[in-house]
Amino acid sequence: MQHLTIATSSGIVWLLLVSHFGAALVALLAGTIALSVVKGGRLHKRIAGPTGRFTASSKFSEKDIPTMKTLSGKTALVTGASRGIGRASALALAEAGAQVLVHYGSGAKEAAAVVAEISEAGGRADAVAADLAAPDGAHKLARQVRAVVGDRLDILVANAGISKAATIEETTVEDFDQLFAVNVRAPFFLVQQLLPILRSGGSVILLSSLAAHAAVGTLSAYAATKGAIDTLVKHFAASLGPRGIRVNAVAPGVVDTDMSSFVKTDAGRKSAVTMQALQRVARPEDIGPVIAFLASDEARWITGDTVRVDGGSKL
Ligand SMILES: NC(=O)c1ccc[n+]([C@@H]2O[C@H](COP(=O)([O-])OP(=O)(O)OC[C@H]3O[C@@H](n4cnc5c(N)ncnc54)[C@H](OP(=O)(O)O)[C@@H]3O)[C@@H](O)[C@H]2O)c1
Repeated sequence: MQHLTIATSSGIVWLLLVSHFGAALVALLAGTIALSVVKGGRLHKRIAGPTGRFTASSKFSEKDIPTMKTLSGKTALVTGASRGIGRASALALAEAGAQVLVHYGSGAKEAAAVVAEISEAGGRADAVAADLAAPDGAHKLARQVRAVVGDRLDILVANAGISKAATIEETTVEDFDQLFAVNVRAPFFLVQQLLPILRSGGSVILLSSLAAHAAVGTLSAYAATKGAIDTLVKHFAASLGPRGIRVNAVAPGVVDTDMSSFVKTDAGRKSAVTMQALQRVARPEDIGPVIAFLASDEARWITGDTVRVDGGSKL
């Protein structure tokens, strides 16, 4: 027998005796609902009502609580999921229970490996390819997405992106257009093309950057694409809110991926870390779970925002 004690703010203490192999116990308190689901002796979920400050004590420790499948039954598309932050996002969404479409541009093998990793862990995933630098890339991708998930997409993570370090003098028209094609045009038209199948309760997450609000590196053209993302988030959120669709962005600082490979050198690492409150270089796994959170119902009251996920950069 496990003993689970729940104390309310009104001082009432309930002692719930929960069988090792029992399925569920529901305790209804005055004005407060506390729901604990215990399966096979493991604590799965705990919900407090709006006024219910409660503490729960049991012999279960935090690490005994398995990852909650907050995204079970949801479908998700992650662009640029073959590598880096997109890959980590796809894995985090799949871990939370979503069926994931793993988009790639040229990394077919890498995308297949992400699909295999999700499948081996018991999840569902498919790879989809499209060149998002092409004017009709987003349109082609949306057609493939519809072919796999039909008329129901719950989560869109428009993550695929490129960067190029160049001074103002060095920046060419071609580079500028390419940056805006992949980083802004593609997410814009992907949202447009997927609108008919984005469901109420859905979540769109775009990738912004620290560079959009701080002058870091020689990245003015790239930074402008991310500034455009921050603007789109607000307009998309206002337009799609009445349909019950939330739109947000995450703004990472420097993350150790192919895009920010300069952090692999001592000098690059130092330049990244010295502008942060937290003294290490971020990994893609630091960003993916935040994207999964924004996709979940836990973030149901967050929309139109850009969430900084940068270890306290440039405070
Ligand atoms: N890393 C950072 O420090 C950092 C910081 C702030 C924001 N961000 C943003 O986070 C996002 C992901 O960055 P990352 O660091 O993970 O980048 P990354 O490791 O370089 O990966 C980029 C991803 O985008 C895809 N992609 C690029 N161009 C494409 C195209 N034309 N068509 C289709 N797919 C394309 C790539 O797919 P293939 O390889 O399959 O072609 C790859 O999966 C980007 O939007 C980036 O701006 C990154």
